[in-house]
Amino acid sequence: MLSYRHAFHAGNFADVIKHATLTLALQSLLKKAAPLCYLDTHAGSGTYDLHGAPARKTGEARDGIQRLWQRTDIPETLAPYLDIVRAFNADKELRYYPGSPRLVHSQLRANDRMVLMELHTTEYPLLKQEFTADARVAVHHVNGFEGLKAFVPPKERRGIALVDPSYEIKTDFDNAVAAIHAAYERWATGVYLLWYPVLERTLVNRLERRLHETGIKKILLAELCVRADDSATGLNGCGMVVINPPWQLDEQLKTLLPWLHQVLAPKGAGGQRVEWLVHE
Ligand SMILES: C[S@@+](CC[C@H](N)C(=O)[O-])C[C@H]1O[C@@H](n2cnc3c(N)ncnc32)[C@H](O)[C@@H]1O
Repeated sequence: MLSYRHAFHAGNFADVIKHATLTLALQSLLKKAAPLCYLDTHAGSGTYDLHGAPARKTGEARDGIQRLWQRTDIPETLAPYLDIVRAFNADKELRYYPGSPRLVHSQLRANDRMVLMELHTTEYPLLKQEFTADARVAVHHVNGFEGLKAFVPPKERRGIALVDPSYEIKTDFDNAVAAIHAAYERWATGVYLLWYPVLERTLVNRLERRLHETGIKKILLAELCVRADDSATGLNGCGMVVINPPWQLDEQLKTLLPWLHQVLAPKGAGGQRVEWLVHE
């Protein structure tokens, strides 16, 4: 029984890092005219109302997107993501936050496609409803860890797969690596993005070991923590694993993350790193 609902967390600092990285990777692929496919194994419900009860209850967006969305002194690498968020909030008040499917959908071209997976019985119908009118979008009520392998390689042969589990179950770490490994064996040229939480450092170390053991090359890791590793207050930080990162994504993230860290953790708690876990 799944209990996690992203509406409680939409627009928090973790979404900022995830969605800024996703947008940068996508923008890079969109430079070529050839169609692409976006796969989202844990899609959520699409768009989130920050005035709704779940978002108000936690107030997490206050320490995330709220700190950024109207700033003008931003690095240029953050502009495409913030432009999309602003377009959802035309009346100068931050109310709607685009989740990963919405964010990508707003950049999709006529011949691109999206394959969305969501298992939660409440979230799936909401997601389905968001995209009913668009033939480029397929929404599946499936387990994303299993679905990913079934949907690759996409016929376009180029694209991005986002794996963004809720980590309600500790096996999500291993399941995510296994799902990506199985998909990679069918589609070795895809760009894979895996979001992970920093709760206990030992779990991150284990994730890194598991990724190494797959033998997959070109694995970049970008991590931002807003609290020290030993804080027992909840999510101390999070990271993105990027397999086959588009050209210069590493350099882009190396300039973006220090800036984001300074805005999202103004007292300097935590830290950030961008490093190759496995190079060529
Ligand atoms: C972190 S949220 C997704 C957020 C979304 N990707 C975004 O960035 O806007 C994780 C989602 O995965 C769903 N979920 C949990 N386990 C799943 C599974 N095995 N397969 C597919 N979806 C799952 C949850 O219901 C939740 O909506």
